[in-house]
Amino acid sequence: MSRLEWRTVNPDGSRRVVVTKELPGDRWLEVLKAADCRVEICTSNDVLTTEEIKTAIGKSCHAAIGQLTEDWGDELFGALKSAGGTAYSNYAVGFNNIDLNAATKHGIPVGNTPGVLTETTAEMAVALTFAIARRTGEAERFMRAGNYHGWLPTLFVGELLKGKTVGIIGAGRIGSAYGKMMVEGHKMNLVYFDLYQNRELEDYISSYSQFLESQGEPAVTCQRAKTVEDLLKLADCVSIHTVLDDTTHHLINSERLSLMKKNALLVNTSRGPVIEEAALVKHCRDNPGFRAGLDVFEKEPNMAPGLAELDNVVIVPHIASATLWTRSGMATMAAGNVAGLLMGYPVWNKPEVLMFLENGAPKAAPSILNAKELKLSFHAE
Ligand code: GLV
Ligand code: GLV
Repeated sequence: MSRLEWRTVNPDGSRRVVVTKELPGDRWLEVLKAADCRVEICTSNDVLTTEEIKTAIGKSCHAAIGQLTEDWGDELFGALKSAGGTAYSNYAVGFNNIDLNAATKHGIPVGNTPGVLTETTAEMAVALTFAIARRTGEAERFMRAGNYHGWLPTLFVGELLKGKTVGIIGAGRIGSAYGKMMVEGHKMNLVYFDLYQNRELEDYISSYSQFLESQGEPAVTCQRAKTVEDLLKLADCVSIHTVLDDTTHHLINSERLSLMKKNALLVNTSRGPVIEEAALVKHCRDNPGFRAGLDVFEKEPNMAPGLAELDNVVIVPHIASATLWTRSGMATMAAGNVAGLLMGYPVWNKPEVLMFLENGAPKAAPSILNAKELKLSFHAE
């Protein structure tokens, strides 16, 4: 028997769709059923190898939904193409596990799941920020170990965030949502680094600042940093929200860490390799007042040697998008990508995608990354 187990939903469907993991919620299956799909789902928790996914695709497969832990490149897109496949969706907003050029070369449109993770992921970045600012990981371990023998003025003294400066690297949807949460919730000043100016964010913070002043409270500011270095020097707390590509790989290295304040906070909910993890371990070891909150790791599921022993680090297992609403929404979005393409619908080209979670969703594929390259038609409106 193979080590992997599968289950089939809607066995009479005429279009075979392979899904490499169980996904939360039911709506995504309804979406695929409505597109006459027979859905084969791998129910095992193991990460599938490329060979195992190829076997699952087999000789006839119309579409696939895959995970960020899988390498979707020339081999798999080639296999999907040969099996008659015409659609793929990643069950993720990030797509560094995908070779988009290879998909395009094989004529396979690739979907992702933006929009539904924005607030959920930003909230996790906030959770990690406070976990490190107020040292909840260390303090919890201390309690559980029975070490609490009475209140002390000096016990687990952390950092106050109100009025300090929060820095976001990458001011896209998630970065901006996090930035707003920190500014609105904790009256922080904001500095961001991004290739593009985010005027919407700047205007929003400026209006919020006017509101604060109208209430007799101090103003808050929003500025765009010219360089990552400028941001790192200025910010008391830095959260990373970039994509992972060649330009952001090891964006945070020992040199840049050394520019940060000795008691700065660093949060990463984007992708592990954006930080040179060994350098971070060394930096945290040498600077006990510096703290890092990590949801992602350079060589997931492994951690750099020494990381897990550090008290000034809070670590969680890549769960930033893990709320039921988001995870089932991502499933619906991935199913919508695949079903939309199989039905021959055009591609949606607006950033608002939440209507795809509802009944009466537009007849379109919500988010296709290589639609332009493949010259797919866009939803006209
Ligand atoms: C999660 O990390 C995602 O990219 O969706
Ligand atoms: C993800 O949704 C982003 O654009 O930040």
